[in-house]
This record gives sequence, structure tokens and C-alpha cells, in this order.
Amino acid sequence: MANYYVIGLSTVIILTILCMLYDSFDMDMYRCADIKQPSATSTGITRLLTSRGSTFNMTGNDVLVCLHIQKTGGSSFGRHLVHDLDLKKPCQCKKGVKTCQCLRPGSDREPWLFSEFSMGWSCGLHADWTELTHCVPSMLDKYEGEKKKRRYFYLTILRDPLSRYLSEWRHVQRGATWKTSMHMCDGRVPSSEELPSCYLGIDWTGVTLKEFLGCRYNLANNRQTRMLADLTAVGCYNLSQLSDAERRAGMLESAKRNLKRLAFFGILEYQKETQQLFEATFGLKFQKDFVQFDATKGTAAQTILTEEQKAGVHKANAEDFLLYDYAKKLFLDRVAALNQNRKRRTPLT
Ligand SMILES: *[C@@H]1O[C@H](CO)[C@@H](O)[C@H](O)[C@H]1NC(C)=O
Ligand SMILES: *[C@@H]1O[C@H](CO)[C@@H](O)[C@H](O)[C@H]1NC(C)=O
Repeated sequence: MANYYVIGLSTVIILTILCMLYDSFDMDMYRCADIKQPSATSTGITRLLTSRGSTFNMTGNDVLVCLHIQKTGGSSFGRHLVHDLDLKKPCQCKKGVKTCQCLRPGSDREPWLFSEFSMGWSCGLHADWTELTHCVPSMLDKYEGEKKKRRYFYLTILRDPLSRYLSEWRHVQRGATWKTSMHMCDGRVPSSEELPSCYLGIDWTGVTLKEFLGCRYNLANNRQTRMLADLTAVGCYNLSQLSDAERRAGMLESAKRNLKRLAFFGILEYQKETQQLFEATFGLKFQKDFVQFDATKGTAAQTILTEEQKAGVHKANAEDFLLYDYAKKLFLDRVAALNQNRKRRTPLT
């Protein structure tokens, strides 16, 4: 009897250790300890992002850079990019390996795609705008072993802030953390005074919505705005540099400006249009059509909120709601312009 108990207990312990190892492996494997932060001047960054409007040339020096915001459907979009694009030279993927090699035609070391599915998290786990714009060029130089001028086409996916927030809360409640994210800003990571942990212990398993909303340092709050903003403009993670109102307003303005300058952004709630706009923007085609994500499925979507909880989520994510409204309008305008263009080009019979 005692033997069975010992075997049972050791199995549980071994499984727990394996799970933890797997988690940290997935994250740490791609961390770059020594990201050089070139002092990117604002003009440098402007140049990096002004590729909107020019045509993507895979055989040239162009790179697609994915900015993946948690719980926006960015993973399935990222997988479409490596698995489903109709290319003369498709990405080379191996079963069981998360990253694929997406190399330019005629090259055996130059990637045309910078995403977690091609380069791993080589600029940090779920790196944001501030991190990517400083890190991607030097990371690619290092990878290719040569300093080079490239054009960077940034893209991202946004999602309705209420569903996104609940989805992140449920994910964290199940034990997920992104604690190996670096949040590099202005050449350093935030100190533990600037960005304290919201929980004691290894994760936040079982957190209630009230507790989740109650932590001022919870990075889920206004995540989309923060990850798209230039954080160097608001004092990075030091909350005493600006008043709360100034910081929020500054981040929102910056996020809007950056969003507009991205080569492309899609919206989870508009899969079909996201696919159309992507294909038209980059002159690429997917082999399979995107499937509209069923917004009513999943524990997060089925969470019924009280009015008080809803108000709490709105308050904690006020900038994300404003950003989403702005994004939706811009997105639908672009889709409409695309359809207008198509109609005009169809010869009259
Ligand atoms: C793409 O870049 C390659 C290499 O620089 C160049 O030869 C080619 O003309 C470019 N294609 C277009 C359509 O600009
Ligand atoms: C934040 O900035 C203020 C004002 O510049 C400074 O006095 C303070 O030490 C900083 N806080 C942290 C935690 O670095």
C-alpha cells in the first residue's frame, strides 16, 4: 500500500517538475541575454516604420515583424504566416519544433519573417513595440552575421478589450505567467520597485477577477495600448515621472500613432477582412481561408459578469477601449478603400 502511495506521489512531483521545465524552456530558450540597445534616435525609428504604402519585396531586404499581443489570436495568425502562405519557397518546418525557417528565395540565412514562429522570442517573450523597434535590426544583423539596411514591415492583431482581458485573466487563473518577459525600455529592464509582482509565489493560480483588477501593476490592464506605445516617451515603467492622467493620455496617443504607422494590423473579430487586407497589403496569398473565431466559445467568453465587474474592466482598460474604437474605424476604412479599388479595377462589361 505504502509503495503505491510513494509511486503516486513521485509521479505527481516528476510531472510538476517537467511542466515547470517545459514552461521555462519555452520562454528562456529564446531570451537574448545581451541585446544591444542601439540608441535609436526618433528619426531612426520613424524610418523603420514608414514602410506602409510601399510594396513588400521578399527577395529584397524586407522583413515582416510580428508584434504579438497576448490573447489576441496572434498565435493562430502567426501560424498561418509560417504554414499557409502560398510561396515559391515555403517556410521549412519540422514536426514537433515550434520555429520554422522562413528564408528569402535565393538565400540560406536571411529570414524575411521575424516572429516567434520563425525566430523564437529572440527579442524577448511577447516583445512590445518599444522592445522590437530597438532590438530587431541588431538581432537580425547578429543572426545573419552582417550589418545590413532592411525595410521593416510591422504587423499586429488587436482584439475587443473586454474579451481579451477576460481571456488573459482566465489564462493567468489557470497558472500562466509571462514573467520571463523583459519589458526592456530605454536600455534597461524595470526594477522590482517600478514593476512589482502582483502575487506572491510562483504564479497567480486561482486569482479572482476582483484581485486581477485590483493590482495596479497588472500588465493585463491596457495591455494593447502599452504594447503599441513608445514607452520611452512616458518614462518607461516609472510611474512617478508623469501623473496618472498624463501617462495614460500619452500612451494612448503614442499607441494610436504607432498603430497607424504599422505596415498592417488586423482585428480578431474580423478574420475575413483581416485576411483580405493582409493579402492586398503584402501581395501574398494564403492557401486556406481564415476561419472566424467563435467568440462565444471558451470559459472566458462564457463568464457572466455583473454590472460592477463590467465597469471594473472598462475602467482598468479605458485606453484599450479607446484604442480599439480608433483601430476598428481605421481598419474598416482601409477595407472599404480596398473594396472600392477592386470595383474600380474590375472592367465594366
Ligand atoms: C525586389 O528586390 C530584388 C533584390 O533587391 C530586386 O532585384 C527586385 O527587382 C525587387 N522587386 C521589385 C518588384 O521591386
Ligand atoms: C522614478 O523617477 C523619479 C523621478 O525622476 C525618481 O526620483 C525615482 O527614483 C524613480 N523611481 C524608480 C523606482 O526608479
